[in-house]
Amino acid sequence: MNFSEKLIVDDNALFKIKNEIQAEFSHGLNYHGTDVSMIPTFVYGLPDGTECGTYLSLDLGGTNMRVCEVNLSGDRNFSISQEKYKITEDLKTGEFTELFSYMAKSIGHFISTKSQSKQGQRIPLGFTFSFPVDQSAINSGKLIGFTKGFNAKNAVGKDVVETLQDCLNKQNIPVDVVALVNDTVGTLLAHSYQSGGAKIGAIFGTGTNGAYLEDLTEIKKLDDEAKNPKAGSKMVVNTEWGNVDNARSVLPITEWDDIVDSASINPRRQSFEKLISGMYLGEILRRLLVDLHAKQEFLSNTSTLPEAFNTQYGLDTALMSDSLRDSDGETTHTKQVLGALGVSAENVRELDAQLFRDASQLIGLRAARFSACALAAVIESEASENAAGDINIGLDGSVIEFFPRFEQSIRDALNVILGNQAEKRIKIGLAKDGSGVGAALCALQAIKQGVAKK
Ligand code: BGC
Repeated sequence: MNFSEKLIVDDNALFKIKNEIQAEFSHGLNYHGTDVSMIPTFVYGLPDGTECGTYLSLDLGGTNMRVCEVNLSGDRNFSISQEKYKITEDLKTGEFTELFSYMAKSIGHFISTKSQSKQGQRIPLGFTFSFPVDQSAINSGKLIGFTKGFNAKNAVGKDVVETLQDCLNKQNIPVDVVALVNDTVGTLLAHSYQSGGAKIGAIFGTGTNGAYLEDLTEIKKLDDEAKNPKAGSKMVVNTEWGNVDNARSVLPITEWDDIVDSASINPRRQSFEKLISGMYLGEILRRLLVDLHAKQEFLSNTSTLPEAFNTQYGLDTALMSDSLRDSDGETTHTKQVLGALGVSAENVRELDAQLFRDASQLIGLRAARFSACALAAVIESEASENAAGDINIGLDGSVIEFFPRFEQSIRDALNVILGNQAEKRIKIGLAKDGSGVGAALCALQAIKQGVAKK
């Protein structure tokens, strides 16, 4: 089998993977401690666009951290003022409390330089923390484990809201952390606010994951108090679908995926995410190209590949997007990309550039088809319960935003899995700023639900 054949996900596989995801979803709704955590978020409702107020949000989940002040004007619109703060490798892998002190310090910096809030006033904050957390209330939860290259020490099992609040208190910063939000939940809330209702919020960025609104009766592992019908009959569930099929029962894992996984800081975890998200797509391509070079099928004019090809995560997924600006058969952008990776022009044959572009396309298409399986797993029951009306989905993240034809490939695969009628009803919207606005909406929801300050 050549490499292209190994990267193809046929229609049959789409159904198998979708079924496996649904099986893991229902297992996760029934039991605690499952791989696909199906985390109850204690968010009992979605915004309808009439919400008002000013809230702070802190967003940690990828390369940067953001502090935002969000003003919701109650007519589906908002304004946002924000500042990015760099998260260094040392912070990602050092002591957990160091990372959280830095976050508190950044909030302090934002308040003194950018915030419109009055002196002496305490400010409510929604905390978007985009990692799996075992949530016990809308404003508390213990870290299950880091993903996406984060590996701060002594973190697992710690309550992330309590830790952040302690750090804020120690630094005398007048902020109350009132809500803990996953970025998918934030995206769902933000998209619901902006479009007057939504069904799913999902991220296809550095990592991947999705959240949706589930009937309380289906979340069997919840204790009776949490099922309190006064609060509403539904709750947002954060699926953590990135952790699907760690047993590799249905995912067609290639030898290059296998190397990416075993060299990662969390082998045999996040198996689904490692085939889909921006942190890994470039790395899969790099491992494949190194292999093809050894077999003299790629850049065979040069005996040694430039450093980027020999460095873990040395090939950024953004370069695949750049290469795919070339349409089929063209190679202008791809040659520039190869130049940026340190390959000298005389070593690049037309064939090499085409191989780079084609492999990027196949790895991206495969990721989009897997992504569709996860979306279809959630949409399917919705589509059959309500046979009419739009199914609004809010998506965010660098892959969905920048990877050429990713959304179209998702749609094509949804069409295969769900059929043409259902696919036509799916309205996909880019929920940019989802995490920031969503955290503000979640802070508002927490206050509405009467959550006590810590
Ligand atoms: C995390 C999720 C998050 C997703 C997207 C995954 O690695 O486990 O909590 O929502 O990335 O950021």
